[in-house]
Amino acid sequence: MRLIIKIAFSLLILYSCDPAPKVIVSNTEKLADSTFDDHSYSNLKEIRTTHLDLELDVSFQNKTIYGVARHTMLNTGVDTAIFDTKGLKIQKITIGEKNNERETDFVIGNMDKDSVLGQPLLVSIDKKTTKINIYYQTTENSEALGWLDSNLTSSKTKPFLFTQGQAILTRTWIPLQDSPSNRITYTSTVKVPQDLMAVMSARNVKTPNNNGIYKFEMTKAIPSYLISLAVGELDYHAFSKNSGVYCEPELMKACEKEFDDIPKMIAAAERLYGKYQWEQYDILVLPYSFPFGGMENPMLTFVNPTVITGDKSLVSVVAHELAHSWSGNLVTNRTWNDFWLNEGFTVYFEERIMEEIYGKEVSDILASIEFYDLQNELRIINKSRFPEDSRLFLELNKRNPDDGMTAIAYVKGAFFLKTLEQKVGRIKFDQFINAYFKKFQFQTINSSTFISFLENKLLTPNKIKFNHKEWIYKEGLPKNCIEIRSNRLDRMKDLALNYSKGIDVFLPKVKYRYVKIKGKRKKRKFIEKINRNDFIVQEWQTFIHALPKQFSKKKLKQLDKYFSFKTCGNSEIMTDWFVLGIRNNYTELNPEIEKFLSKVGRRKYILPIYEALKINESTSEFAKKIFKKNSGNYHAVSRNSITELLAN
Ligand code: BES
Ligand code: ZN
Repeated sequence: MRLIIKIAFSLLILYSCDPAPKVIVSNTEKLADSTFDDHSYSNLKEIRTTHLDLELDVSFQNKTIYGVARHTMLNTGVDTAIFDTKGLKIQKITIGEKNNERETDFVIGNMDKDSVLGQPLLVSIDKKTTKINIYYQTTENSEALGWLDSNLTSSKTKPFLFTQGQAILTRTWIPLQDSPSNRITYTSTVKVPQDLMAVMSARNVKTPNNNGIYKFEMTKAIPSYLISLAVGELDYHAFSKNSGVYCEPELMKACEKEFDDIPKMIAAAERLYGKYQWEQYDILVLPYSFPFGGMENPMLTFVNPTVITGDKSLVSVVAHELAHSWSGNLVTNRTWNDFWLNEGFTVYFEERIMEEIYGKEVSDILASIEFYDLQNELRIINKSRFPEDSRLFLELNKRNPDDGMTAIAYVKGAFFLKTLEQKVGRIKFDQFINAYFKKFQFQTINSSTFISFLENKLLTPNKIKFNHKEWIYKEGLPKNCIEIRSNRLDRMKDLALNYSKGIDVFLPKVKYRYVKIKGKRKKRKFIEKINRNDFIVQEWQTFIHALPKQFSKKKLKQLDKYFSFKTCGNSEIMTDWFVLGIRNNYTELNPEIEKFLSKVGRRKYILPIYEALKINESTSEFAKKIFKKNSGNYHAVSRNSITELLAN
């Protein structure tokens, strides 16, 4: 590697006095092999950032952030520091304390073949250098950034900006060593238009400033993918001393109601796995184009507004992101191959929180729905080019780490822990998980560290034999995986089965009941009818999943007449319903589908809808038309997935 850097530098053009820097691009493909994190170019073992100070100027007019990233480094005595960048313009790099800086040389390497990792940035330094300042600006290729024109917000009057760092997008808005194996603290000063407010994954103010300048501090060391920023018109409502919600003013009333169990969730999580370590737990409800349901940015979880349903039926997303405050943010996956350590633990933990607050029946219902997703995913992965992706520990080198974002990490991971819990008993298991969080807090760990800890602290001392290595390193689902049953969901399956056999189980029935009026018994007629609100979302999802894949349009229409799934406002139900409808040529849904795809940008919903539309020629044209109209409104994460889908 040294040789490559030397060659690169020998090609370097000095431009300290050149106002329009010429950047030399060198062949640095091999650089990726030299680090243990396949998804970062940085030479972390030689030199690493310990603190980052950001100076950011956010221009909505140019859809550009102008920044300085001031890195404080721990240098083992090397003369080159390597950072990750993608879609950034680097203006100049200096070394030394602020205002006592001197410019230094740098080289930007080639983009990797598949444009996943971006470009390494090699900076020439001294063996004693500890301060590196990178002056840069973002571009339209800065994929982390979601710039929303005002028509895409609730207010329709103010624009919005949010960032999405996970997995390797932080490098598209900040030049840094973008590997989850390194933890850093950060501070920042952010300048935004005066009528907007800035918030970050850090300590935040609760009311807007009048000068548009915001200062932030994250005093606990976090991995780079958790650095995040949002700018928009925001209000704040506190649920308790240390929790609350930021959102656009129009959404506040709904948010106050939907999320008021957050203090209970925090208390439940603390009872389970120890003190909440991040001072404050706020959530930020973003506009609809946020590509995920939730993102666990520390101190400030980002949430998609589709979670607001009016009946708290999707608040498990918040329980999930809160759980990441332990699994993920305290104990972090060292590489993206260990992603299951973040998500599997978090799904397990999420369901424990849900069980504490809403009872075992509810958490079992959630687990059953997830298990259904897992079975589908296993079928898809088995038939794919990468059947090895059904292992918990992944080998994603040369691939996009987002390929690991499947039900394997989430659900197989959680069922591994549930199965283990059942084997050792909840008391011992909870002690073990508590010890795990304590031992590895503010560290990054990989799967083998976990295995040693599991063997030494739980299995060996209790003389328990368990097939944990099969779970982690082998494909598919081990035979001892526990089974979760839910009577309520079984009932929905029965309803679906009978309905599909032609029995109209939902036909309103005329019934009679005796009531006492003025002491006299009287017979009264009433209509017995099943309403949509008689069942929770997950029950309806189970019902829809249990309908035959080939189903008559007439029956679909009748179900819509009873329950208006197509306009019910709950995106989980609507997505499943649209997919079933598309498969069965139920074209009356098209206007609703178009409306949905024009409003919502959450990948989990829009991808399966586009996928279903793509199958037939006629609907595929419809999909392309809608995508063309809306692709500019989606975040790059969703847009890229759909571009890829429609291209193949
Ligand atoms: N950290 C993830 C989101 C993520 C993972 C973003 C990988 C980018 C790469 C977050 O915690 C998450 O899992 N969100 C889920 C919600 C959840 C309830 C399963 C989502 O957005 O669907
Ligand atoms: Zn998660």
